[in-house]
Amino acid sequence: MAFMEWTEDLRLGIESIDTQHKKLIDLINALDTAIAAGYGNEALGKVLGGLLDYTIEHFSYEEHLLERCDYPSYPSHKAEHDSLTEKVEFLSHVFEQGQSVNTDQIMQFLKIWLQEHILDIDKRYVPFVKEKSGQLSQY
Ligand SMILES: [Fe+2]
Ligand SMILES: [Fe+2]
Repeated sequence: MAFMEWTEDLRLGIESIDTQHKKLIDLINALDTAIAAGYGNEALGKVLGGLLDYTIEHFSYEEHLLERCDYPSYPSHKAEHDSLTEKVEFLSHVFEQGQSVNTDQIMQFLKIWLQEHILDIDKRYVPFVKEKSGQLSQY
């Protein structure tokens, strides 16, 4: 069983976003697999770097979408994204420097952060984005 499973409650019903969230879960699982395989810090840093790059890509896609829809909670949503990005950037430095890390703690943090962000913060924009994109497609 994978470390983090995709479950139906994570589905937002916006296809591009759901696909990206699934990929984030895949990358978290890849990091877990690398840890279980006993990869060294440098190799783990690379896997984490891949997760970081894709996280940044997803966040900017989502932020662009929310901006286009004039989403009123855009600033606080972006602040959540920025704070996670900073944290993962910090972790990847820690790995690169070869410092000892509590991988269990890091994995739990990433899993819970993503779950809670999708279920709580991302879900709030769904009705708003659907309504706006419906209006946009009429023109
Ligand atoms: Fe988000
Ligand atoms: Fe998201």
